[in-house]
Amino acid sequence: MSTQQSAQTEPNANAGFAPGWYIVAASKDVGARPKPFMLNGLPIVTFRDSNGQSVSLLDRCAHRNAPLSAGRVIGGNIQCHYHGWEFDGAGACKTVPGLCGEPDHPARRVPSFACRDSQGWVWVYSEPDVDPESEPYDIPCADQPGYLTIREHLEMPGPLDAVAENALDVPHTAFVHAGLFRKNADRKPIEVVIRALDGGVEAQFIGEERPKGLVGRLLAPQGGEVFHWDRFLLPCIAQVEYRLSDRSHIITTAALTPRTPTVTDIFATVAVKVPVPNAILRGIFKPVAMRILRQDIEILRRQTEQVKRFGGEEFASTEIDVLGLRIKKLLREASRGKASTAQEERRIKMLV
Ligand code: FES
Ligand SMILES: [Fe+2]
Repeated sequence: MSTQQSAQTEPNANAGFAPGWYIVAASKDVGARPKPFMLNGLPIVTFRDSNGQSVSLLDRCAHRNAPLSAGRVIGGNIQCHYHGWEFDGAGACKTVPGLCGEPDHPARRVPSFACRDSQGWVWVYSEPDVDPESEPYDIPCADQPGYLTIREHLEMPGPLDAVAENALDVPHTAFVHAGLFRKNADRKPIEVVIRALDGGVEAQFIGEERPKGLVGRLLAPQGGEVFHWDRFLLPCIAQVEYRLSDRSHIITTAALTPRTPTVTDIFATVAVKVPVPNAILRGIFKPVAMRILRQDIEILRRQTEQVKRFGGEEFASTEIDVLGLRIKKLLREASRGKASTAQEERRIKMLV
């Protein structure tokens, strides 16, 4: 981005919703009872069919629109609590209590969503009644030998693009998380390589020293150079990877699910390999991670309120806002069915 461009403000431009696979729950939380959730404003219910497979339907009974999630699961079908109609995992009507004829009929179907259990999460494909060509994203290092894997679900105030930018944004860490990662006072120049990926974008940070804060000491007690990448992959993956020799590796994969235009669920998988015993790591990691996340929640809540108060976004950016606008562009193009053709590889200097 040129200096001239960076002096301009960008008009309000909605990022849009990119079709694809989204996490909606932890696998362990989908069991005998129907579980409701919202995907991009759409109420969906997930439950397990008679084979134990997770399945998802629109959370609206075909009969009189009662929420199916308020019903129960019987023999792998979901039963509406109003008149007892039952639907299987594909949305076909299997029972209409009191009806002498055949219950199944195209007009009595409930739209269904492709659903998979993968790596401890339930993933749902955002478009109803399609057999997706792709499978859910494969989360790197999750449950691999030598890695401690932590899964967390959090609700963030903000649209998906703002939450993704926040998760992958380096400049805010010296302020919002002062002392935990970086300090504003002792900045050093580093190089950032911004690269287009297939359906995504990454920023690689070169020459970064081990952060002096608590997170740095935890990640790399022995110090040394840090290899650091921030990535966004369509439709919903925000990933932060740190590597220090082959002894320390931490890769956080946040799958972002837009619940509404201003609330985004984060389903985070953190895979950590550091020369620290797992019990100690677990004991330190969670309180630190929660502190960081609470700080992010607070700033995102304020940002979202401001955007609402002023009736839209009006952003000014510089070249060190490396991923935010690129994420918006990827989402906007994907929401219009356009595949990104960006071939970019750009190097910039930055003080971190
Ligand atoms: S509304 Fe669901 S069975 Fe009548
Ligand atoms: Fe943050």
